[in-house]
Amino acid sequence: MIGDGAGGLTIGRFGWKAIQPTVEIQTAHAFAGDMGLSTPVLPDHWGDCTDAEPPCRTLPHGAQPRLGNEEVPRALLDLVVFYSENLALPARTQSEDPQVLRGKQLFYEAGCASCHTPKFVTSREARHEAHRFQLIWPYTDLLLHDMGDGLADGRPEGQANGREWRTPPLWGIGTARTVSAEAGFLHDGRARTLEEAILWHGGEAQAARDAYAASDKAERDALIAFLESL
Ligand code: HEC
Repeated sequence: MIGDGAGGLTIGRFGWKAIQPTVEIQTAHAFAGDMGLSTPVLPDHWGDCTDAEPPCRTLPHGAQPRLGNEEVPRALLDLVVFYSENLALPARTQSEDPQVLRGKQLFYEAGCASCHTPKFVTSREARHEAHRFQLIWPYTDLLLHDMGDGLADGRPEGQANGREWRTPPLWGIGTARTVSAEAGFLHDGRARTLEEAILWHGGEAQAARDAYAASDKAERDALIAFLESL
């Protein structure tokens, strides 16, 4: 949950602590906070420089008057948002493989699916027609959970406290190593493998983690094979 700017609260869906409600606002924050670029959503040119940094706030910026007052004009922001909203997912692999099917069973039995919710049907009112009433398999509830001391960063954001994280989607996670051989998992990339990521789970996920740890090696391997098939 995050303030809606009008004194109320709105549900966050994006970001590690679920503080951004839409792809557009998430994108505008990335332009501002990560790149120091102004958009019609966040029109300050100085990114995250504070009141205590006047020289930073008065540095030259890249807005071109012929395109508007912001460095990233509305048409460009719309294109980047449209692109992000329409990125395709990698297809699932080996979904009929017996080891993968065994791992899938363990995923449910261990309680992983209580947060990594396998499937949803999208709203009939989605903004883009192509996104309406679609069966999707994101493996997330998009909600915050207390993940225990081991994962806590002690840094509240929005309504999330320093121990809470949004369940990340697991679709496509099997392709992480295709993208980068050194890909790490969890919010700070500390887990070198999917197994390490599971073993860091604590708090509300302690029982699921312990069920995984108590399984024999063949079962643990099957669960990892299932994750890699997503
Ligand atoms: C109580 C909710 C909950 C349960 C139960 C749970 N998870 Fe998670 N999972 C999370 C959250 C929240 C994170 C993100 C934590 C972080 O980044 O610090 C996460 C992260 C992960 C990641 C890393 C994803 C990434 O992109 O880095 C994997 C893999 C994963 N979980 C698998 C599992 C498996 C397998 C189980 C069952 C053994 C399980 N989870 C049970 C909430 C849960």
